[in-house]
Amino acid sequence: MKVLLTGGAGYIGSHTAVELLNAGYEVVIADNFSNSSPETVGRIEKITGKNVSVYHVDVADKKGLRTVFEKERIGGVIHFAGYKAVGESVKVPLRYYRNNLDCTLTLLETMEQFGVNIIIFSSSATVYGPLNAIPYVETMAAGPCSNPYGSTKLMIEQIIKDASAARGELSAVLLRYFNPVGAHSSGLIGEMPNGIPNNLMPYISQVAVGKFEKLNVFGNDYPTRDGTGIRDYIHVVDLAKGHVAALKYGAAYRGVEVFNLGTGVGYSVLDIVGAFERANKIKIPYAIAPRREGDLPEYYSDSAKACRLMGWKAERTLEDMCRDAWNWQKNCPPARPIEV
Ligand code: WQD
Repeated sequence: MKVLLTGGAGYIGSHTAVELLNAGYEVVIADNFSNSSPETVGRIEKITGKNVSVYHVDVADKKGLRTVFEKERIGGVIHFAGYKAVGESVKVPLRYYRNNLDCTLTLLETMEQFGVNIIIFSSSATVYGPLNAIPYVETMAAGPCSNPYGSTKLMIEQIIKDASAARGELSAVLLRYFNPVGAHSSGLIGEMPNGIPNNLMPYISQVAVGKFEKLNVFGNDYPTRDGTGIRDYIHVVDLAKGHVAALKYGAAYRGVEVFNLGTGVGYSVLDIVGAFERANKIKIPYAIAPRREGDLPEYYSDSAKACRLMGWKAERTLEDMCRDAWNWQKNCPPARPIEV
């Protein structure tokens, strides 16, 4: 089967491309490279020894996307394309709603025109919002989200559910990611944060490489075991394999199904610092800083459903995550300059 990956040159898209190619699928990438590099496609090919068709298009551009569907016989779509910076989404919400919703609507319309009936969507644990108890289970009511980025994910979930209800042939799998970290063990692909990283693991890696003097730990007075925030970190390769499982599931299933993709285990910020130091034998200096606005004290997944229905389970350890994150950081192309 030929699979279209929108945003396929990005962090999670590129790792998913590798796992799909390894599993025997053909891969087509549509990306506008607004937050990724065309060089990544060559690296995917190098890792797998297989070719990828790549289109430099904006998924919200109807004509551009049509061309992809005309030229390739697409059997299913994995939809990653979208803006993803939480803080930025608070500052420029309309840009987030416009881009993330436009991309999805154009994609769903084009899929309908070409009779493509499987979509896997890149959703987020953030859709559970601040009110649910932990661990998060798929049966819980989602929302309200505390930022526009999260709201776009929740809205897109709803759009896909409505589209599938109206067009019964359309199967959808909505994947709610927890905190993806790490990189491919080859060190050839990984996360390329733009400017100063917002997320914990890339920030720690950049402290390790000497780009920053120390990590700021956002709060040590949360009601958690060591006072720092707890999250469910998942190795990006495990996450990528979750997409392969979802595609198989979607092909055999009619309707819409939601799955958490996490490990089910929560680690604190200080757990991550300690694990990174042990795995890579590098000291990570840190200082306690004020809490970051909008952060929740603790959340992690119940990921039993993905195991039960798709036979998928995260296998990589926290040590693997820290080792691979550092291996990528050492090898990765220079980061883009910090915008002022
Ligand atoms: C993890 C923990 C921080 C940076 C976000 C989005 C989510 C998803 C993944 C997708 C928290 C602490 C962090 C730092 C720190 N986005 N921290 N110092 O906020 O759980 O999830 O990224 O595209 O939707 O909300 O991840 O890695 O930013 O933070 O102390 O410099 O690390 O407070 O407890 P988060 P994160």
